Amino acid sequence: MKNILVLSSSLRKGSNSEILAQEFVKGAADAGNKVEFVSLRGKKIAFCTGCLGCQKKGRCVIKDDANEIAEKMKSADVIAFATPIYYYEMSGQLKTMLDRANSLYVSDYKFREIYLLATAADTDKKAMNIAKRGISGWIACFEGVKFKGGICGTGAEAAGDVKKMPLLLKRVYTMGKKFNNEDTQMKTFQKIATTAVAILAFGTLTACCPEKEQTTSNAQQAAAAPAVQPAEPAKDNNMNKLTLTAEWDKVFPKSEKVEHSKVTFKNHFGIELAADLYVPKDMSLKANGKFPAIAVSGPFGAIKEQSSGLYAQHMAERGFLTIAFDPSFTGESGGEPRYMNSPDINTEDFMASVDFLSTRDDVNPERIGIIGICGWGGMAINAAAIDTRVKATVASTMYDMSRVAANGYFDQANNAKARNEMRKALMAQRTKEYKTKEYDLSEVNTLPADDAPFFLKDYYDYYKTPRGYHKRSLNSNTGWIKSAGTSLLNTKLLAYANEIESAVLVIHGEKAHSRYFSEGAFEKMTGKKVKVPAKLDPAKNWNMTVGNKELMILPGAVHTDLYDDVNGRIPYDKMEEFFKANLK
Ligand SMILES: Cc1cc2nc3c(=O)[nH]c(=O)nc-3n(C[C@H](O)[C@H](O)[C@H](O)COP(=O)(O)O)c2cc1C
Repeated sequence: MKNILVLSSSLRKGSNSEILAQEFVKGAADAGNKVEFVSLRGKKIAFCTGCLGCQKKGRCVIKDDANEIAEKMKSADVIAFATPIYYYEMSGQLKTMLDRANSLYVSDYKFREIYLLATAADTDKKAMNIAKRGISGWIACFEGVKFKGGICGTGAEAAGDVKKMPLLLKRVYTMGKKFNNEDTQMKTFQKIATTAVAILAFGTLTACCPEKEQTTSNAQQAAAAPAVQPAEPAKDNNMNKLTLTAEWDKVFPKSEKVEHSKVTFKNHFGIELAADLYVPKDMSLKANGKFPAIAVSGPFGAIKEQSSGLYAQHMAERGFLTIAFDPSFTGESGGEPRYMNSPDINTEDFMASVDFLSTRDDVNPERIGIIGICGWGGMAINAAAIDTRVKATVASTMYDMSRVAANGYFDQANNAKARNEMRKALMAQRTKEYKTKEYDLSEVNTLPADDAPFFLKDYYDYYKTPRGYHKRSLNSNTGWIKSAGTSLLNTKLLAYANEIESAVLVIHGEKAHSRYFSEGAFEKMTGKKVKVPAKLDPAKNWNMTVGNKELMILPGAVHTDLYDDVNGRIPYDKMEEFFKANLK
């Protein structure tokens, strides 16, 4: 539990910024924190006279309401300031209050995290930039204190305007709600591993993930796009009786050029998998009565109605018989518990898809390839390292889930101590789950704050807006079992990537935070160091080829640009050329 002070500075009735402040209060209180709301309305706060008496006395010499408020600021763990934007700055009354809290400068203040909630008539988010700079200047005077987030309600002129902005209110509520009660161990795990594991789908925790990615139009649209409410989590899925939806309920339109149907097959763990089968209608594309075939899966938190289906349908239009499958524990596939993942079983899922394809009458078993997107890129490379029937593999915008689970983002927690802390936390979680007979789920893809790292906005934009939302995509809508990362933590998915003899094409966006996974995989496969130039020609993809392994970097593209084609960045032509060359 944290002590949270929310200080509202608008003096007008029906204040917009105060409404935001109250939402923040609600969120923080709902998460079980001790929250105090203070308004400057009706308070007597004189200007600071600059006498510096406070530095000796520990309190201001002027006798008005400022000292009481300064004391509350001193003992809070977190302070959220709410202000109207006046002449592109914080309000004069808030600035005056900060000046009058000058005694804090020499005190043993407790506050460590500062938030800013602002409202402005201007419709541009930048309207709060100067106020944010002002608050940052104040923060800079207090060691150990950080600006943790800010939200500006724009286009809010008349009192109460923000009430008509439910998405804004929800964002503020969510910002307040993130102070929760989890114990330190679980937090450590979540920071380092769940970010890794939940992020697969993708999560809210940002601590280990530096802001490496740049903005694109998608992300800018994210804030404006309507949120889609997640569906209720699926109940137990009876693996002997899969429920397959008959209608076309994918997030992309159906192609006239391919026949679509649903198929099922079992993996070696006895889990029945559901897949969408896409067969080219143009039978002239069959060579000697058989098609080359490709199995597709991913991203990590997604289902076949999302990216993998899109890739599969496109490749079918280009002459390949394809399947997009739901991995074990996910979507319409079987496997219990739900919300679970396994580097082993999910690699096996790819191999099971090759079992299925290679035994079909209309498929040439010598011409089978696989495509793994995001977390499934790592599984695909692992499958390629085992399954010699796979002749060509594409890993698109790949995540090496085992690397991020074990090392944290950018390998920042790559040490035994950090891993052992995670192990302890995971085991405590397992014991709890065993006792309660219930799995706790991590929360993913909550609405990111304005200043959240870009990759969170990027994921939200795909998974939580009509762009990519699907009600069955439970791992991206709801989360993962908190202890699901156990196996990824101690497994190295790319252990034998250097022994892959078949062709592999690794594709990544230049600006994706996850690019280092593809570079690492390519280096592991080839033994050659990757050095992507700091500046790429925006009109040309950057390639590095070593034998039958190729790395392709798409200038300017971000992680989810390769989830769908909203920005026309999925290099279908290149994939077609690659598979045609290697599925011979
Ligand atoms: C003195 C004054 C200055 C203002 N200056 C700006 C400004 O520079 N930019 C802007 O977008 N809105 C400006 N506004 C509009 C307010 O920021 C806006 O109405 C806001 O929602 C008020 O918040 P409140 O309801 O919490 O007081 C100004 C309003 C006043 C009264």
